[in-house]
Amino acid sequence: MVKRSAGRTSKPAGADTERPPTLSVLVIHGPNLNLLGEREPGIYGRTRLPDIDRGLKELGRELGLEVETFQSNGEGEIVSRIQQARGRVDALLINPAAYTHTSVAIRDAIIALDVPTVEVHLSNVYRREPMRHRSTIADIVAGRIMGFGAESYVLALRSVRGLVESSHAKQG
Ligand code: DQA
Repeated sequence: MVKRSAGRTSKPAGADTERPPTLSVLVIHGPNLNLLGEREPGIYGRTRLPDIDRGLKELGRELGLEVETFQSNGEGEIVSRIQQARGRVDALLINPAAYTHTSVAIRDAIIALDVPTVEVHLSNVYRREPMRHRSTIADIVAGRIMGFGAESYVLALRSVRGLVESSHAKQG
């Protein structure tokens, strides 16, 4: 995890050509997303989860982001994984899947994690049943990306560096 600019006032030699620091990003996929590719392909597409994860790790290398991925069907396991990330990651991308619509525990864990977070969905939940319109995390995340299929994760990952930098700038 990158420490907030650590009060650096003068640039070391060669600083202008320095690469930006590598940021650490945790990507969490909620229940049933292990079935991507097989599950309702008309809604979620044909890309499988390991392919999404591999693509995110590759893109992360290009963008200077170290990407770690995690999928679980259990709410408690997701809460525990978010807790383990405290103080260790710079940003969180999360598709809580069905827990999006119900989980106060995941909301509380994200608040405690206290890093820029993007809510990701493959489908546009507003084009679907009303029960999917509610999100327990919509008001605590930096942004929400949905409706682009597997590309939603890519767009979210591309937003990470800007979100982290602007959150550090706000904290001063
Ligand atoms: C989802 C949308 C949720 O409503 C659903 O329960 C999912 C996937 C999506 O990515 O579109 O499992 O989060």
